Amino acid sequence: MGHGGNVIDELVTDHREVEEIFGRIEALPSGHQDRKMYADRVTMELVRHSVAEEAYLYPAVREHVPGGDALADKEIDDHARAEQIMKDLEGCGAGDPDFDRLTGMLMSEIRSHVADEEGNLFPRLREACSPQALDQLGDKVRQAKKTAPTRPHPASPDKPPMNKMLAPGAGLVDRLRDAMTGRGKQG
Ligand SMILES: [Fe+2]
Repeated sequence: MGHGGNVIDELVTDHREVEEIFGRIEALPSGHQDRKMYADRVTMELVRHSVAEEAYLYPAVREHVPGGDALADKEIDDHARAEQIMKDLEGCGAGDPDFDRLTGMLMSEIRSHVADEEGNLFPRLREACSPQALDQLGDKVRQAKKTAPTRPHPASPDKPPMNKMLAPGAGLVDRLRDAMTGRGKQG
């Protein structure tokens, strides 16, 4: 399944891609340099995914799904926990003693987020919304993700477009979020 279709198909495809990168991290031995590259890549995917969900998915859940506020609040809490782990992970090299602990925490946090969304939130949203509304949300989510940077190495933002998009000093997650939401840009 590729990207496209309604919001649920789109976000499920993201989930599978994230799981694929987790699998690559798990397949490499502890301390292997590529594990850091994959951790950066999965952070970028997750920030992009989370920002798109927070911008479009959860507001729709609040509006259309009975009990949607509580559902959305829970998912946003999950995101905040994952984001903190990703911030901590940003400062760790592959050989850092905390790297394995933090990637393990991130995987378990995200896997439970995915299971919860796919098993609970998505079915309820599908029930509450028309197919057309789900398609429109899919387009919005794709659009939101397109504005995210795609380069996997924001730590060395020496080539465009990252050097234009990233404010100096902020952490990776903040920088990606700012780049996606347009915060700090002239508007
Ligand atoms: Fe998700």
